[in-house]
Amino acid sequence: MGVGILGTGHYAPDNIVTNKDLEKIVDTTDEWIKSRTGIEERRIAKDDEDSSDMAYKAALQALESANVSAEEIDLILVATVTPDTPFPSVACMIQDRLGADNAAALDVGAACAGFMYALITGQQYVETGSYEKVLIVGVDKLSKIIDWTDRNTCVLLGDGAGAAVLGQVSEGKGILSFELGAKGAGGQHLYQDEHDHLVMNGREVFKFAVRQMPESSIKVIEKAGLEKEDVDYLVPHQANIRIMDAARQRLGIEDDKMAKVIQKYGNNSSASVPIALSESVKQGKINDGDIVVLVGFGGGLTWGAVALKWGK
Ligand code: ACO
Repeated sequence: MGVGILGTGHYAPDNIVTNKDLEKIVDTTDEWIKSRTGIEERRIAKDDEDSSDMAYKAALQALESANVSAEEIDLILVATVTPDTPFPSVACMIQDRLGADNAAALDVGAACAGFMYALITGQQYVETGSYEKVLIVGVDKLSKIIDWTDRNTCVLLGDGAGAAVLGQVSEGKGILSFELGAKGAGGQHLYQDEHDHLVMNGREVFKFAVRQMPESSIKVIEKAGLEKEDVDYLVPHQANIRIMDAARQRLGIEDDKMAKVIQKYGNNSSASVPIALSESVKQGKINDGDIVVLVGFGGGLTWGAVALKWGK
């Protein structure tokens, strides 16, 4: 028996904010944003739409695609750094809305690597036989903590949610290997300040990410007993197209074998990898038996990578 992803879903708010829109509020240009980051537009939630609302919609879609009912879920793990409130958790909020009456529920905070942390935490429960079905959601409403006067950060980020249902799959399929890591000493490069604003030293985070993403990917490929050439599809954290391309090139993966949604969503933090994964599945880019690598990094500093064989 393996532990794998039975279904995926995602949700992003309707409200589109383009680079041209941002030109009106900070000293930036569409050309700068596109060429330095790959981002063309992002989704920004309205005031009355919070993380739990987005998480709920993504979760519903994941349950439907997995053909699993809310009552069957044993555990809900929500990766987020922007919960509606510190407590109750987003996980508890969506447990109620979904009617997942048999599920334990908690939030997990590892910034942009949060989905990988939640995925692997969930995997452990299924692998040990403690639980059968786990709902994993990555959600962030970063617009709540963006300093809209800071051009270094406000052009990069967006709101959204992605979800996956974990459960048993046939032998040889599912999660093959993982790597999770943290370097608290780098915490000052990306954090929430006393005004609740996201603050980032872009150059330091860039240097860290451009090294960490390929390193972690290669580690999980090796741990799974595979070669770089065996990888069919890469789902990286969508923070900057230049970081993504550097990782892709180190792995020798062709452009069309990498999930790329950054142009329309920007960086969705905890939601970034599951949104990219869900979109790729919907577009038929990931097929049964494919070797897929998910990899992310984020504030903390944290990172995580997973190698899996797609399918049930
Ligand atoms: N528009 C125009 N100019 C800008 C903008 C902007 N939006 N933002 C920064 N600049 C300027 C800078 O002020 C700097 O000017 P200076 O040279 O006069 O000081 C110049 O552009 C170049 O700055 P760099 O930092 O060298 O630009 P770089 O090419 O590295 O791109 C960026 C900056 C996009 C932030 C890049 O460093 C990056 O992507 N870093 C990683 C970001 C990341 O991955 N963050 C993860 C966040 S995850 C989370 O937890 C939410």
